Parts: sequence; structure tokens; C-alpha cells
Amino acid sequence: MEIAVLRTDCTEHATALLAVTVFEGADPQDGPAGRLDERLRAQVSEIVARGDFKGKPGETLLVYPRDGSAPPERLLLVGAGKPEGLDAEVLRRAAATAVKQVARLGIERFATVMHDVGGGSNRLEPSDAARAVAEGLVLGSYVFDQFKTKPDDETAPAKLSGVELLEKVEEQATQLESGIRIGGALGRGENLARTLGNLPGNVATPTYLADEASRIASDFGMQATIFGPAELEAESMGAILAVSQGSEQEPRLIVLEHRKGPEDARPIALVGKGLTFDTGGISIKPAQGMEEMKFDMCGGAAVLGAMQAIGELDLPINVVAVVPSSENLPSGKALKPGDIIRSHFGKTIEIINTDAEGRLILADALSYVRRFEPLAVVDAATLTGSCVIALGHQASALLGNDDALIEELRTAGDRVGERAWPLPMFDEYREQIKSEYADIKNSGGRPAGSITAAWFLREFVGDMTWAHLDIAGTAYGEGKLAYQSKGATGAPTRLFVEWVLGRAA
Ligand code: BES
Ligand code: MN
Ligand code: ZN
Repeated sequence: MEIAVLRTDCTEHATALLAVTVFEGADPQDGPAGRLDERLRAQVSEIVARGDFKGKPGETLLVYPRDGSAPPERLLLVGAGKPEGLDAEVLRRAAATAVKQVARLGIERFATVMHDVGGGSNRLEPSDAARAVAEGLVLGSYVFDQFKTKPDDETAPAKLSGVELLEKVEEQATQLESGIRIGGALGRGENLARTLGNLPGNVATPTYLADEASRIASDFGMQATIFGPAELEAESMGAILAVSQGSEQEPRLIVLEHRKGPEDARPIALVGKGLTFDTGGISIKPAQGMEEMKFDMCGGAAVLGAMQAIGELDLPINVVAVVPSSENLPSGKALKPGDIIRSHFGKTIEIINTDAEGRLILADALSYVRRFEPLAVVDAATLTGSCVIALGHQASALLGNDDALIEELRTAGDRVGERAWPLPMFDEYREQIKSEYADIKNSGGRPAGSITAAWFLREFVGDMTWAHLDIAGTAYGEGKLAYQSKGATGAPTRLFVEWVLGRAA
């Protein structure tokens, strides 16, 4: 889908459909909306005055302009809620709401207009507003239907080919263009993460993820290094090898390097759990809902989605991405409870539960990242069921060894509508993963499961500045928001890119 700014007045532009946001309880405004309403001989203000359209979030109304009043064939009113509640998330949702309605109508191109983003205390910069709108458009048009032999009408509406943002003031138009560039790249990165997440375990294998990473590298001039069993062996990555030993699928350690910052500048690092199917292994999971464990690579998917966006935006910064990828299956060769393994870091690990496998593959990946001497490393992982109990589906858990980094990530997530909320890492929690027989054990039991999992990771980061996002509750879901659909959400791709944008600035 192509999104472009058209330097024209919205009251003059002939289009199959013009989408216009309407705020709750707000008078028809100055600026484009007011002029449009005037041109429509007060059609919109009359509908609002009669109470037929309230402007509530998610509300839409299709209107045919009065004969000869204005050039658009159709007007789509899109509710944007109270003006004082306006933020990027409101626009992201409104844009996605519009795109879904338009697709249902079978219209392939439509236009919209950015207005009312400049008023009051809730002023959004035009570029930020356009960024959110572009992102909402791209996310809202996402469908995962590649395994449907015959697309069904509801899930597969007409594919949109383009959206035009109408703005005749040159200076504004330029700002909208810069926002669209970022929002478009973000949306595409998030959609890539969604697709990788939604792909079933028999397709999105570790080799598949590695091939996708190589594709990103060649598209955007990054360096890809892919480790298979032999290289993992040579690097003494005992933990990744242990998790994968029960599976026919070979493990991969995927490394992408985007080096567009100063040559001697230390990079920042992103790490994502790429467990392509988690049965639990010998400590096998119940059958009920086990199909959801295809989403256990969503941390890795978000890292790849973020790298694609970073590449597309050509951000002037050095970023290293590492995705350890494996299956976790039971077999005659599988890792067993009681086994003791040696990690890349050198620490020995007693396996209490083979279902606590994510922390094992991440331990080796985090330990490996030390060689890049990153300024900071952030990992994302569908790591614990416990996290879903603590925070539900509204926020990722955020933990780490540096309060400033945690705050930086929390605020970045808050800005882009991907919330992350801190959990404490008091030293006492560390006691739960002390082992009788090895340096550490891989399960601390049920109490504070997300915190002891993070403590486990912390044992492998050395002196790096590190933070961890447990995305077990946020990486996939029912698709309740306008810009979501059932399955992988793409989170925390947006948070990652927002963090990197902040570091690149
Ligand atoms: N991938 C799971 C965590 C998970 C559970 C993600 C539910 C999304 C939804 C992880 O590998 C796991 O199984 N964790 C165990 C750890 C336990 C054995 C210490 C868990 O949370 O039960
Ligand atoms: Mn598991
Ligand atoms: Zn897992």
C-alpha cells in the first residue's frame, strides 16, 4: 500500500472516498474540516447536531455528499473521541478503523486529511500525527490469509492500493511526508513481525527465520552471520544446543549488524527469543492451547521486524541484533530434568524443568552479545506464563540491571502505545535459582516466576547494561484494537524502533 501526500485542498479533490475524523462534542472547526463542512453545505455539522454521529472512538458513518456540494463520491466520518484525549494512539486506531471500513466497501484508493492535530494543549506535531496515521493504515490493512485456499469475504477484503493525505500548505506537507516515512516503515516492520509470529511451526522453523534475516540483511546493507550446529559447537553454546537436541530441526543463532553510525561508536543491541515451537520438551505442556506455542518466537520476530524498519529508515546508528532460534521437543535425545549443561558464558546450569527453555537459549545469546561491547542490550521474550498472570495483556513486564535504561524503555513504550511496566529485581529473588549441583538452576518455581526468569538472564549479561521485556501477554492475542487482528500483535517492534530512534537522535 502506497501512502502519499497530495498537495491539494481537501475541498477540491475528486476521490472515491474521503475519510474525515470527527471529535466528540467538538464544534466544526476552523481549518480544513470547517472549510470542508462549509463546502458540503453544513452536512457534517448537521449530522453531528442531530446526534446521528457522536464522534466516539471506533464509530464510523458513510455519507454521500449533497448533490454538487463537494467532489468526493463518499465521505467516511471516523470518530476520534474527545479532543482533549487526542494522541498518537487515537490516530493510529482511527486510521485503522477507516482502512478496515474502506476495504469492506471494496474501494482500492481513498483520501484523508490531517486536521485538528494542532490545537490546544494536546498538540501533536504534524509529522507525529502523520506517522501514527500511516502506521494505523498499514497495520489496519494487515491480513494473514496465505493458507486460505479461497479467501473468505470477511477476512480478505479488497486489497488497498493507496491512500492520499491531502495537504496544500507546502510546509505542512513536507512534515507529513517525514512522518509517513517513519510510520510506513514501522507498520511494515510490525507486519513482518506479525507474519513471522503467525506462521505455523512447520513453516517458521529456525532455518526459515535465519533465511528471513539474511533477506533483511541483503535488502538493507546489513551483515548477517548465521550459526548452525557446527558453529554453535565451536562457540561452546551449550545451552542452545541442549534445548535443540530433542528436535529434528537444526538450531540457528542469527546475528544482524546494521552499521550506519560512526565507525568507532559502540552499538546498541536487540535480542529476541526465537523458539519456533515450545512443547515444553520432556516436561511437556498440556495439549489444551499448545498450538499457541508457535508464538514462542515473537521476541525474535519483533527483533527482525525492528531491524527491517531500522534498515528501511537507514537510521544513523550502529545496531546489533541477535536471535537464538530452536524448537523445544521431547524425544529419545531430548534434554531431561536433572541434566547439567555448560553455557557459553561458562556457568553450569541444572535443568529442573525443560519447559524453562527460553532463558537457556537467551543465556547463550546474551553472553555472545558481550563481544560487541554494546552501550545497552534489550531482550524480548515470551518467557513466562507468570507474566500473563501479573500484567495480563495490557503491558509487557520490564526488568533489568539499570534504572535509567528501564525508564528509557518504559517511556518509549508509553509514547508509542506499547506499554511496558517494571517489576522489581530484589537480590532475595536470586536465592530461588541457586542449585545444589550446578552454578544455577533453570527454574525458581512458581512464586515470582517472571522475576526469577529475569534473574536467570541477568547471570549471563556480565557487566552489560541490560533490560528484559517479558512479552508473554502482549505478543499475541484476540486482536481487539482496530489496528490489530487475531494472532501476533507485532509487539514490541514499535517500542524497539522508538528506543532506537531516541538513541539515534
Ligand atoms: N514459552 C513459555 C512461556 C509462555 C507461557 C508464553 C504462556 C506465553 C504463554 C516458556 O517457555 C515456559 O514454558 N515457561 C515456563 C517456565 C517454568 C517452567 C519455570 C512457565 O512460564 O510456566
Ligand atoms: Mn517453555
Ligand atoms: Zn517457551
